[in-house]
Amino acid sequence: METELSRTLGIEHAIFGFTPFPAVAAALSRAGCFGVLGAVRYTAPDDLARDLDWMQEHTDGRPYGLDVVMPAKKVEGVTEADVEAMIPEGHRAYVRSVLAQHGVPELAEGEASGWRITGWMEEVARRQLDVAFDYPVKLLANALGSPPPDVVARAHEHGVLVAALAGSARHARRHAEAGIDIVVAQGYEAGGHTGEIASMVLTPEVVEAVSPLPVLAAGGIGSGEQIAAGLALGAQGVWLGSLWLTTTEADLHSRALTAKLLAAGSGDTVRSRALTGKPARQLRTEWTDAWEDPAGPGPLPMPLQGLLVAEAVSRIQKYEVDPLLGTPVGQIVGRMNSERSVRQVVDELTRGFEKAVDRINRVAGRNR
Ligand SMILES: Cc1cc2nc3c(=O)[nH]c(=O)nc-3n(C[C@H](O)[C@H](O)[C@H](O)COP(=O)(O)O)c2cc1C
Repeated sequence: METELSRTLGIEHAIFGFTPFPAVAAALSRAGCFGVLGAVRYTAPDDLARDLDWMQEHTDGRPYGLDVVMPAKKVEGVTEADVEAMIPEGHRAYVRSVLAQHGVPELAEGEASGWRITGWMEEVARRQLDVAFDYPVKLLANALGSPPPDVVARAHEHGVLVAALAGSARHARRHAEAGIDIVVAQGYEAGGHTGEIASMVLTPEVVEAVSPLPVLAAGGIGSGEQIAAGLALGAQGVWLGSLWLTTTEADLHSRALTAKLLAAGSGDTVRSRALTGKPARQLRTEWTDAWEDPAGPGPLPMPLQGLLVAEAVSRIQKYEVDPLLGTPVGQIVGRMNSERSVRQVVDELTRGFEKAVDRINRVAGRNR
């Protein structure tokens, strides 16, 4: 499964895997794909450095990338405490009432909230980049629009390619103008922050909008046949996130959550602002329902909502409170029905891809 982009990056398969888990990212790179480690959960630069050291030791010299969540617009001098202070008391009371309804226990005294995500604050993302450029990271991806121009320039000085996610052709064009090297066209079906256009429509639109820049198709891909479809639509590779969540290398810290993912069907997700304040596809739960409830206050904008719910989400995860327990995941969750290693999943993807190519060749009257 080779494309011009996979040859440029020196990988065997044009499959890019986003994951918050270093063990998954490293396994992807070792399997001939391109592992991309999500950095948004690292608050302390030392923790990121520790995991990048680990990646260095476990990728057998194969290339890998890093994904940050950096807003394109700079907001000068705003600290986490300033943002915390903007959260209305009514929203805090609502969180307390939802947790109380479900009897969710408190964290132990002094226990830090594990889910507290601050990597989408520019000051935190910049500290992550200071660490990342000390490592031979080959690709820097950004989830929230184009990274600021100085970051693109710095990446290019280090010989690092820059990718950015786009949910529309308009976003993609903006990335191209900002000097981005690769556009990830992420459809509505995808896990995490998504736009409103399905991959089948979005991929060719983005390919056309930014040609000759390479495009990766993302959203709803979980089989080799779907990879073939993405490449047929003009993508130079595919970018998968959800599928790795139920691999044996993933570390969700919750058997109950893994069981929920394995049991979920493709209709069991919702695009909701409940976790971060921006629409993100995730498992539908009583937690997401509570933020849709017209009797509730509704979600706050990013980054307020993420800070508002950080402790609550940590408590729900720690105590595995089943009705509220969720995670970002895409509609492809309907195919994630067994736990397998990254290598087994990649083998199945490549076999499915070959079958799809054979089928199309037969349809086209070749291979007879
Ligand atoms: C659990 C989870 C967390 C995600 N977090 C991020 C993130 O921090 N940064 C990012 O660029 N994309 C993130 N995404 C989106 C993925 O990069 C990817 O675009 C998406 O998963 C592709 O669609 P799929 O879920 O159908 O495979 C996340 C996806 C999932 C499932």
